[in-house]
Amino acid sequence: MQVCHTVRDVREVLPRLPRPLGLVPTMGALHAGHLSLVAASVAANHTTAVSIFLNPSQFGPSEDLSRYPRNLQADLALLGQAGVDLVFAPEAGELYPPGFATWVTVEGPPAVRLEADRRPGHFRGVATIVAKLLLIVGPDAAYFGQKDAQQLAVVRRMVADLNIPVTIVAEPTVREPDGLALSSRNVYLQPAERQAATVLSRSIARAQRCYQSGERAPLAILEAMRAEFRSAPLAMLDYVALADPATLQPVGTLAGETLALVACHVGTTHLIDNAPLAAPHPLTEARIVS
Ligand code: PAF
Repeated sequence: MQVCHTVRDVREVLPRLPRPLGLVPTMGALHAGHLSLVAASVAANHTTAVSIFLNPSQFGPSEDLSRYPRNLQADLALLGQAGVDLVFAPEAGELYPPGFATWVTVEGPPAVRLEADRRPGHFRGVATIVAKLLLIVGPDAAYFGQKDAQQLAVVRRMVADLNIPVTIVAEPTVREPDGLALSSRNVYLQPAERQAATVLSRSIARAQRCYQSGERAPLAILEAMRAEFRSAPLAMLDYVALADPATLQPVGTLAGETLALVACHVGTTHLIDNAPLAAPHPLTEARIVS
C-alpha cells in the first residue's frame, strides 16, 4: 500500500495502477462503516484508493474539528489489512493553500433544510472537498455511506451538475447490534449517552412500524417518531423528517420511496440516522458489527 501526502505524488503513482479505480473518501478515525465502503470498492475494482483528510471547511465555528478523533497510524494499519492500494493523506495546506478562493456550492435541494439548516456552510465544504478529491484521483467509482443520506444526495447532485465522470456508489449503514449507526462521533458518548443514542434507530423503527401497519399521514408518523424521544431524556431532538431520498425535501404524501430521518444531540454530540420507511426495520437494511 502506497501512502501519498501530496497531489503531485498521487498523480505520479496512480497512472501505474490498474483500472478500474475506486475511491473511498474519509476523514479518518476509521470504523467498520468505512471498512464496508473499502470492501465494496476492493470487490468491484482493481485498484482502491482511500483519502484520509479531516476537512476543516465542512466544520462550523462551533463544531468539533479540534476534538475530532485522529489516528493515522491505526487507520493505515486497517487499510493495509483491507487490501487498499493507495492512501492519500494530505495536510490541510496541501488542499487549501494560501489564496484558495474557489468553492463548490449546491444552492438548492438537496443542500437545503435538515443538516443544511443546522450546519451552515457544511455542504459547501463537503461539495468542495469531494469535487477536489474526484479531480485529483479521477476514480471510476466513489463510495459513500447511506447513513449520511443528505451528503450522499448532495454529492450525487454535484457530480451530475458538473458532469464529473464517476459513478457514485451508496453502501448500507453499518450498525451496532442494538441499532446504533456507526459514526466516528460515537466515541464521544459517555456510557449513559451511548445507551440514550439508541433512540435514533428506535425512532426510525417506530416510523416503519407505523407505515407498515397502514398509517399514511406523514404528520402522524412524525409524531410517533418524536414520541420515542420521551423515553430518552438525555437525547435532545433536532428534527424528524420524511423526505424524498434524491432531494431530501419533506414529502406531503407517502406515494414514492421515502426516507425517515432523525437528528439529535446527546450531550454535545450531534447524531443522525435514516432508513427507508418501507423497509421492515433499520436493522434489516443494515450490516451489523458485533
Ligand atoms: O463523510 C465524510 O467522512 C466526509 O464528509 C467526506 C465525504 C470524506 C468529505 O470530507
